[in-house]
Amino acid sequence: MQWPKKKLLKIGLCCLGVLFLSSCGKKAAVESTRIYVGVSCYDQSDIFVKELTTRFEEEIKDIGDAEKLSTIVTIRDAADSPRQQNSQVQELIDAGCNILCINLVERTDTSEIIELAKKNNVPVIFFNREPVAEDLKQWDKLYYVGADAKESGTMQGELAAEAILNNPQIDRNGDGVIQYVVLEGEPGHQDAIIRTEEAINTLKNKGIKLEKLGHGIANWNRAQAANRMEQLIGEHQNKIELVLSNNDDMALGGLDAYAKLNRTAASTPIFFGVDGTAAGLQAVQEGTLAGTVYNNKDQQAKAMAELATALVTGQSTSSFPFKNGKTLYLPYAKVTQENVDEY
Ligand code: GAL
Repeated sequence: MQWPKKKLLKIGLCCLGVLFLSSCGKKAAVESTRIYVGVSCYDQSDIFVKELTTRFEEEIKDIGDAEKLSTIVTIRDAADSPRQQNSQVQELIDAGCNILCINLVERTDTSEIIELAKKNNVPVIFFNREPVAEDLKQWDKLYYVGADAKESGTMQGELAAEAILNNPQIDRNGDGVIQYVVLEGEPGHQDAIIRTEEAINTLKNKGIKLEKLGHGIANWNRAQAANRMEQLIGEHQNKIELVLSNNDDMALGGLDAYAKLNRTAASTPIFFGVDGTAAGLQAVQEGTLAGTVYNNKDQQAKAMAELATALVTGQSTSSFPFKNGKTLYLPYAKVTQENVDEY
């Protein structure tokens, strides 16, 4: 029987359609020996995030070498723009990434990213900037890797309390009350709000009397913190006895301000940070930063790399210690001059 030309054309188009759909299906079925990770960072000038992503690249490479998998990592900087981050996600998916690691610019606005990931069946590991719990529930391939902000605040408070109780000279004016200021990270960031609250509560619970002189918002940034600190010194002169900083980089900025004003060590308050960045740890070693709380970038990077591998290769994720089936919190640790060499 002779097939009419039109019918042949229709059958041909149908076959093409089936082929096209099945190749999309293959892309969607995330089981592969090639791990192509698309990373978008909220702002690559952020010191901790930069150190964390560098560790991540090392970890995923190690896993690739050990398990004979090919691994590629593409990192994009969203430069603090949610719009830019959304288009980067589209680009990374178009480039063939089969897993995304997203450091959200805007923690509370995940809708476009989740929609794109879902549509293309690409799992997402959010990291460092925690989405709200409701958003993580929107799809079963959404995860978060980070740390429990409350724990870091408690530890910073404990470090400060121990130092104050053991060194009466910290209360320079001897009034039995510690006059303090806070250098705060970005407004609305889980780590800024909770670290501050918890550090203060912990100090109070340890019986330390406190008087807040002021605070400066410095968005995790050293230069901004130096400016804010100069203003605070201008307002309160030698009254500041303790500086609680939401991260190391801002604590270093605060110390820069004292150095710039040529203040002696005796008229410089005691500083505490969080993160244990390379520069932060060095300052602890040198004794300018009294202590920090290690934000475990090594374990966070490892957890991200292992989870990414499991999700792409189709391995079971049941051995991961998830909280609510979605979140991996890696523990913080207290660092002082006594144990800094271990880091
Ligand atoms: C925090 C960290 C800060 C900053 C911030 C960015 O966990 O302590 O230094 O990197 O994340 O989201």
